[in-house]
Amino acid sequence: MPDPIRSYDVVVLGAGAAGLMCAAVAGQRSRRVALLDHGSLPGRKILISGGGRCNFTNIHCAPDRFLSANPHFAKSALALYTPRHFLELVEKYKISYHEKTLGQLFCDHSAHAILNLLLAECEKGRVDHVSDAHSIQVERSSSGFRLECAKGEFRCESLVVATGGLSIPKLGATAFGYDLARQFGLGIVEPRPALVPLLLGGKESSWTQLAGVSTLVRASAPSTKTSFVEKLLATHRGLSGPAILQISSYWKRGEPIFVDLTPDQAILAPVVQGRRDAPTLLKALREHLPQRLAEHLAQIAAPQGWSNAALEACERSLHHWPFYPTGTEGYAKAEVTAGGVDTAHLQARTMESRNVPGLFFIGEVVDVTGHLGGFNFQWAWASAVAAGKAV
Ligand code: FDA
Repeated sequence: MPDPIRSYDVVVLGAGAAGLMCAAVAGQRSRRVALLDHGSLPGRKILISGGGRCNFTNIHCAPDRFLSANPHFAKSALALYTPRHFLELVEKYKISYHEKTLGQLFCDHSAHAILNLLLAECEKGRVDHVSDAHSIQVERSSSGFRLECAKGEFRCESLVVATGGLSIPKLGATAFGYDLARQFGLGIVEPRPALVPLLLGGKESSWTQLAGVSTLVRASAPSTKTSFVEKLLATHRGLSGPAILQISSYWKRGEPIFVDLTPDQAILAPVVQGRRDAPTLLKALREHLPQRLAEHLAQIAAPQGWSNAALEACERSLHHWPFYPTGTEGYAKAEVTAGGVDTAHLQARTMESRNVPGLFFIGEVVDVTGHLGGFNFQWAWASAVAAGKAV
């Protein structure tokens, strides 16, 4: 006997942060909702997020914390569903949390609490979960959409695509959402790894000897006016740490990034005012920087002499140190994918396609990418609620 055709008001594809939230909101509006995923478990990225404690939002959420070809697109959804709204849910479920730094809110105990919250909200909305739904094919039908997959045939009026980006293929990331968008004539802003460690090569390989060294820097990308004062971490392959992850989203291949190694603090005053020699230089560097980094800089950044001009040039270079990354660590290590479904093809209040009524895109699959620090989950929640109320 073939499986019966299952009819729903709404099918949501992808049981990640955005898909779970959207299914719950639509279900609680008494829409009959199926939530399909090709994986066997929902919310796998939620569980590994924030080092297992899920940085579920950021109290300083604002549109300028997001990258998109259209920086205005996210404003409407973000205004309609704010961090305060998600916090109300978190508090309703008595999940204890704390602000770690820079407005980033984390669970005190485990990211499981956030996944359980979303599953409970889906339960309230009587959402049908369909796992292991491999090989999903979609076509338009007279009353909406017809889907075929390893779990049978589904029909729905509204179809929500929440299949995420390309980051972390081993957790089930695929290009499905982009392919489906193209199938229905929507544009794609070229996807690229973002919030990702950068690789160094050639002469700059010497920095990898500092693997494990971390220091507070200001990292900036010259073609944007953006900079981040956070920690840099040297790795065996190049650079990481929050400052580098943040600036990686803005970095363009072939361009340098610039690093102020001691943001807003002069280093060489003791050399200018005291003994102008190598030991005094090393001591001055050590005052401000971890020892291994100070020793490295004493070798590769020593002034071209001890004149005022040479010392000033050296000081300037320490605050504007160029790195020429040879690439990124790619989707295997990227926390998110920048680019995605072109927002010019979507309505900002509902996430519905302008040209294909009933077809919605939410979460990371859309060309809206947050900074590090809880912004990407806030976008997942906000875009999901926008669609969940419209389907
Ligand atoms: P998400 O990727 O979560 O879900 C997509 C779902 O679609 C998955 O369940 C997948 O199996 C399914 N799917 C994919 N292809 C399919 C197909 N062909 N057929 C059927 N199903 C398919 N953000 C943040 O704000 N705070 C944080 O602390 C962190 N921490 C963090 C750590 C790490 C290691 C990573 C990789 C990422 C983060 N993030 C983060 C980013 C955050 O996890 C991410 O932005 C959201 O999970 C995106 O939610 P989505 O629901 O859009 O996609």
